[in-house]
Amino acid sequence: MITPPVTYRSATPFDAPRIAELHASSWQENYRGAMSDHYLDAEAPAERLSVWTGRFSAEDKSLRVWLAEEEDILAGFCCVVLGESERDGTLLDNLHVRAGYRGTGIGRYLLNWAAEEVLAYDPAGKLYLWVLEQNTSAMDVYRHLGGTPGRRELRHLSGMAPEGVGAIAVHFDPGDLQRRTAG
Ligand SMILES: CC(C)(COP(=O)(O)OP(=O)(O)OC[C@H]1O[C@@H](n2cnc3c(N)ncnc32)[C@H](O)[C@@H]1OP(=O)(O)O)[C@@H](O)C(=O)NCCC(=O)NCCS
Repeated sequence: MITPPVTYRSATPFDAPRIAELHASSWQENYRGAMSDHYLDAEAPAERLSVWTGRFSAEDKSLRVWLAEEEDILAGFCCVVLGESERDGTLLDNLHVRAGYRGTGIGRYLLNWAAEEVLAYDPAGKLYLWVLEQNTSAMDVYRHLGGTPGRRELRHLSGMAPEGVGAIAVHFDPGDLQRRTAG
């Protein structure tokens, strides 16, 4: 059997429902314990749809979203907010690869795209993201690709306990990340 190739493209507002579906299912799989079961199972799908529809309709020029697709299956996506922080640079706000597609290089390709977006926006720019403390496998990937863990903060996303959930900032040199993820 011939497997169709994974292709990449920039997202459009019409992609909001598919992105929201993958976002919610990735949270259901990977963020259990950090978010309540009720939120993940009953609220996350509609809440993510509302967030992504709102993000696209805001027409925020700093928001860039890149998709990985295998025919009509959304295999992964990545979102950056260019120049989001004066101190830390561009925020990599979401990076999710669908179960069954992980470990095949899609995350690496999406991180390469993010690095190139930062460098095109500002050749001296920086890139950072937040990873939940419990998400040690994602942290291992970021360390492997040259990410440097920094400060810890409490996150207060919907569905999290009122006291918040610990997250670590991870910083990248976009030029270094681009080299490590090229090819
Ligand atoms: C984290 C995630 C985005 C990585 O994407 P992926 O497509 O599985 O990663 P890739 O296959 O492209 O691998 C990227 C690199 O990390 C390496 N890697 C993968 N898993 C690793 C691990 N557990 N420890 C160390 N390195 C690892 C790979 O070998 C590869 O490096 P290489 O090209 O030098 O061989 C993906 O696993 C995912 O969506 N996880 C669930 C959602 C999530 O946690 N998102 C992050 C939120 S902050």
